[in-house]
This record gives sequence, C-alpha cells and structure tokens, in this order.
Amino acid sequence: MKKPTTIRPAHGPLAVLLPGLGAVATTAIAGVMLARRGLAEPIGSLTQMGTIRLGPRTEGRSPRIADFVPLAKMSDLVFGGWDIFRDDAYESALQADVLAREHLDLVEHELRSIRPMPAVFDPAYVRRLHGTHVKRAPTKADLVEQVREDIRRHMRQNDCQRAVAVWCASTEVYLEPTEVHRSVEAFERGLLKNDASIASSQIYAWACIKEGVPFANGAPNLTVDFPAAWELARKHEVPIAGKDFKTGQTLMKTVIAPALKARMLGVRGWFSTNILGNRDGEVLDDPGSFKSKEVSKLGALETIFRPDLHPALYRDLFHKVRIEYYPPRGDAKEGWDNIDLFGWLGYPMQMKIDFLCRDSILAAPIVLDLALFLDFAKRAGLYGIQEWLSFYFKCPMTAPGLDPEHDLFVQLKKLKNTLRWLMGEEPITHLGTEYYD
Ligand SMILES: NC(=O)c1ccc[n+]([C@@H]2O[C@H](COP(=O)([O-])OP(=O)(O)OC[C@H]3O[C@@H](n4cnc5c(N)ncnc54)[C@H](O)[C@@H]3O)[C@@H](O)[C@H]2O)c1
Repeated sequence: MKKPTTIRPAHGPLAVLLPGLGAVATTAIAGVMLARRGLAEPIGSLTQMGTIRLGPRTEGRSPRIADFVPLAKMSDLVFGGWDIFRDDAYESALQADVLAREHLDLVEHELRSIRPMPAVFDPAYVRRLHGTHVKRAPTKADLVEQVREDIRRHMRQNDCQRAVAVWCASTEVYLEPTEVHRSVEAFERGLLKNDASIASSQIYAWACIKEGVPFANGAPNLTVDFPAAWELARKHEVPIAGKDFKTGQTLMKTVIAPALKARMLGVRGWFSTNILGNRDGEVLDDPGSFKSKEVSKLGALETIFRPDLHPALYRDLFHKVRIEYYPPRGDAKEGWDNIDLFGWLGYPMQMKIDFLCRDSILAAPIVLDLALFLDFAKRAGLYGIQEWLSFYFKCPMTAPGLDPEHDLFVQLKKLKNTLRWLMGEEPITHLGTEYYD
C-alpha cells in the first residue's frame, strides 16, 4: 500500500448512513447525541477514549487517538438510515428497549427527526421479518439507483460533502458467492436480471460504493465481501470493511484462545452457547440466518490455533456454537463457554466463561468508531478492504488468499501501527531498542 502524501481535513458535517435502524443503530445514535452534549461518556469507543503511544517509552508521548488523528467530531455527524418499518429513531429505540427512557427522553427531539427511508428488502433473505416500508422496482438495478438517489438527497438536505455507511440491519440467510459475484460486469448483469443470489444488503453496498461512500458490514452477510465488490471498491477508490461486529462471546474467544496458544496449552473442545431475546435473536432463530452467524463465529479458533502447525495440541478440537432465542432476556444476552483444555503431559483442565453482557451496548461504540475511521481512511486515500479494521469484526475481510488475523491484541497493534504510519510516526515493534542505543 502506498503511503498517502496528504490527508484531507475533516471539514463540515459527515453523513452516517445506517441500513437498519434497530437496536444497535439507535443505541449508537442516541449515545452519540448524549455524549456530544456532555450527558454521557462514550465508553467502549477507541476513537473517543483510546490513547496511542508514540515514539520510545522514554519520550512519554501518549496522546488521545482523537487528538492525534484528524477524525470527524461527534458534533459533525448527521445520521440517516433505512428500515423496513416506519418508526422514527426514538420509537425504534423505545421498542428495542436497550436504553432507559430517561436517557432517550433527553434527546427525544433529535431522535424523532431521524425517519427511515424505505428499505430494499426481500423476505427471501430474512425470513422472520415482514416489512411494510419497502421500495418497489422492476429490477435490482433500479433498486441500486433508488438507494443512490436516497444518499444524494440525504447529503444535499444536510449539507454534507462526505458520507459513510455501516450495515446495522438484520442478518440475512447464508449465501455462497456465485458466478454473478465474480466481476463488476457479471454483477451488473445480475442486477438487471434480478439474480436470486443478490441479496438486499448487496444492493445497498453496491449503491454506496458507486456513490463513493465507504461501507462497513456489521452482520455476517456477504454484502461487500466478494470479488465484484472488491473490484468496484478499488475502481471507485472506496474503503470497505467487514464483517460481523465482534462484541461479546467472540471478543472473549479472541482474547482467551491466543493466551492458551501462547502457552502451548492444548484444547480438545470449545462449546459456546448464547441466550438472547431481542429481534436479532428472533431473526437468528431461522436456520438460514443462524447459518450465516454460525460460519462467522466458527472461523476464529481454527485460524488462531492453526492445528496444521500444532497437531498435538489442536488436531481433535471440537468447536460448537449455539444461539437460542429466549425472549425474557431481551438485549441482555448471556454467552457461556465451556473450554476443555489440557496441559503438561496431557492432564485435562476446564475453563468456564459466563459473560452477562448487553449486545447493543457493546456494538454501539463499534458503529461510531467504524464510521469515523472509514471516513478518515477515505480522506487519507486508502481504498478497498481495510484489514487494519479487523479489530472490530468476528470474521475480518482480508485480501484474497490471506488468512484473517483474529487475535484481538494483534489486531489492535495493527490498527494503531496503521494510524502511526499514516500520520508519519514510527510503528511500535516492542523491541525496546531505546535501552540498547
Ligand atoms: N449487537 C451485537 O452485539 C451484534 C454483534 C454482531 C453483529 N450484530 C448484527 O448487527 C445487526 C443489527 O442487530 P440489532 O440487534 O440492531 O438487530 P435489530 O433486529 O434490532 O435491528 C435490525 C433492523 O434492521 C431492519 N432491517 C432488516 N432488513 C433490512 C433491510 N433489508 N433494510 C433496512 N432495514 C432492515 C429491521 O427492521 C430492524 O429494525 C444484526 O445483523 C446483528 O446480527 C449485532
């Protein structure tokens, strides 16, 4: 990758476009509105709370990331989005039942001003939902044009010169890439022929890239992770990233697994189960959508443990992931893990993790960070797959043929070194050479 010579400044409002104004999106929007008025802290957001060490430890330089990198300010963000239901962001947030009413009421007026644009939606790809607020058009190519017009209108009406999009809509059924996903030309033909392997999320992504709008995918759908989309993103010089926000169970998995591997401890089995009762849980109760999530959640261990290199430790690893829809819990998900590991001379041990988390509270800061970093990436002249944002994803998109990096701390190091590199600072290798000079 060529280092940019100039980074365009973050002048003026930034449109943040969210397909799917459900629990995650409204929690992110309300949180930004509260934080920028000083009514709450943006906890969990690396861009707002994180620091970055620069130079040798002897220099003692550790600015806030937001002071080091020219990111857009929270006060510059103008939210918009699409949903299959007409509820404005306030009504949708009440329905999602994540944030307390006393929090939401402080920004009610602002939230109510965010009314979803009609969605691109086909229940063939999300079987548990039946929306009423949807676009109609003879072909999928026409739907792409309608989304492009939505983007332009939103930017015009809000006086925005820049926009980014983060997919916060429901998880679609599992789809493998087909012939239409091979090239830009094939995909364009598929749009005209209403090819069944082109799901709604791909239509949004295609429209965004054509409009020069960076796109991150918070769900495990294909969306923007196929050769035609990579090609289009390169052609239009648009950064893309995905997929599936790394929030609860996989966040912990990608911390614990590298620790066990670092000490060369073996693992025979890893059983993960979840109970959750929000709308996401209801959608994931459908086997097609669950398959998308299952594939996304299963990938991490294999890549971290590398049984091909360490057969004695991980050859027989049995990894199973379950998600159970359990309405009484709402958004307060519980993720259990049972790990059967073994140590010196093969003696067995167990580890249990019980994470009583809150799904959307963990996901909301990721939406904010991705919006700000993708906008920054575009201004810095980066485009195509942004591997340095793997930190935020369960199933990170990588350049074709490369294994994704799943270890959370390697991902963080990569993210911070990318920021250092872009801003003309030395990467930090942890060699500690300041003491050998
Ligand atoms: N919360 C987390 O921890 C987490 C982690 C990883 C991934 N995710 C993913 O993020 C997404 C959002 O999660 P959520 O809890 O907000 O779900 P949610 O069901 O509350 O919200 C999704 C919204 O998308 C809308 N929608 C569905 N299809 C649409 C379409 N084609 N166009 C526009 N809108 C559409 C739904 O009507 C709903 O309002 C899900 O795909 C979920 O799997 C969430």
